Amino acid sequence: MNNIFKFSFGILATLAFAWLAFVVGASLQYGDLSPEAESLEEDGSRLPDSELYPKDMPGLAKQGAEEYLALGCVTCHTQQVRLFTRKLGKGKRVPEAGTDIERGWGKRASMPRDYVLQDHVMLGNTRIGPDLANVGMNEYDDEWLHKHLFEPQSLVSDSICPPSPFLYETTEEPKAGSIEIPSRKEGGQPRHVIPSLRANRVVAYLKSLKQDYELPEMSFIESEEEVDEIADSNVPSGGIPDWVNYPLSATAMSELSPQMSAGKEVYTKIGAGGGGCVTCHQPTGLGVPVAFPPLAGSDWVKGDKERLIKISLFGLMGEIEVNGVKYNGAMPAPGTPPGSLTDQQIADVLTFIRNSWGNSASAISASEVQAVRDSLKDRPAMQMWTEAELKSHSKTE
Ligand code: HEC
Ligand code: HEC
Repeated sequence: MNNIFKFSFGILATLAFAWLAFVVGASLQYGDLSPEAESLEEDGSRLPDSELYPKDMPGLAKQGAEEYLALGCVTCHTQQVRLFTRKLGKGKRVPEAGTDIERGWGKRASMPRDYVLQDHVMLGNTRIGPDLANVGMNEYDDEWLHKHLFEPQSLVSDSICPPSPFLYETTEEPKAGSIEIPSRKEGGQPRHVIPSLRANRVVAYLKSLKQDYELPEMSFIESEEEVDEIADSNVPSGGIPDWVNYPLSATAMSELSPQMSAGKEVYTKIGAGGGGCVTCHQPTGLGVPVAFPPLAGSDWVKGDKERLIKISLFGLMGEIEVNGVKYNGAMPAPGTPPGSLTDQQIADVLTFIRNSWGNSASAISASEVQAVRDSLKDRPAMQMWTEAELKSHSKTE
């Protein structure tokens, strides 16, 4: 009986941890995103009559999303334009500059906000066919899309995109609303097909897929240089020090205090007991442009200890400037579950980030973390800080 109890509790705890980490974490980070104007005033306000984006899809297109899902199109098509992929290793950033944009898949990178009005976000994960995030922006008209849906091979002879003839009614003669599909046999008779409601839904959905507006967090990208500029925005002034390398070599680690190796463990371990910082701030400490700020070269990291400890205990949200670049995201209290790192773990990971990637600052001890934790006994758990709040709390509070 006792064992059954422990066993059930174990299952429950596992599920609860996973839920906290993946559902609560994500929802804290992105849950309150809403449509926004294409650009904002200097002070972050929006002009009174500006249009908000993304726009909602027409009803027929929403039904089309269900069909798209049911037909399995998402297995081969993604809907996410990426800025670049970053190769790690040797610690050097290797941006594959704007590949998706060069391919003509979009005018800018896709952002979380692009999807806030969709019932099913079908980012997909395998690109057997082209990305469809902007298929509605191509010159394809209804007829082209219907022909492609009926039989892709009638347009692209060696296409492996599966045909969906079952969504069409075939007629002998051309009729009102029928579409002519050329025969695939030399000299063969063309076929005439009438789209069903389901086919019209899919086409309406495809036509609605377009990220043809700008967002405050991501404007159109005109050139490869612009992609490089965004990529470089996360690099501390003075450049990436040559020795930024990951993982730290065995020699380097052995010269460092045990706190550094323990801290690196907290930094890189994902899941229960770890801090998982690496998923967002990256092995290079450079973060991800636009989304996650760098720790390399950051005054938030190298500067005031108390402020840094506070961030590690409760997280941080809202606009913040790091290395001269503005970010506006949210970091829930680190740890799995959030806020579960011990005083020692926080001391170790902070000592590690204060002395990696070219940073050099004093170590932080567990008793220093404990003192800050004690001083914040009355703060509600998981209430993230804002930059303004941290600045208004003077050191002598
Ligand atoms: C087996 C993988 C696969 C599946 C499943 C699949 N596609 Fe495709 N799709 C492709 C490939 C490969 C291409 C590129 C060749 C072509 O244009 O036909 C493509 C091309 C397309 C294009 C043309 C895109 C462009 O920019 O030229 C559209 C539109 C499209 N698919 C829609 C769909 C829809 C709708 C479904 C679901 C009914 C679907 N695909 C299912 C592989 C797939
Ligand atoms: C889920 C992604 C995520 C994880 C995991 C994460 N952070 Fe962050 N971190 C962020 C974001 C986003 C911000 C900026 C928040 C804002 O915009 O207000 C940030 C900001 C910071 C800052 C202040 C700004 C800067 O770049 O110097 C520090 C310091 C920091 N994080 C340290 C850590 C440490 C240490 C860990 C692990 C114990 C960690 N973070 C884990 C996403 C994350």
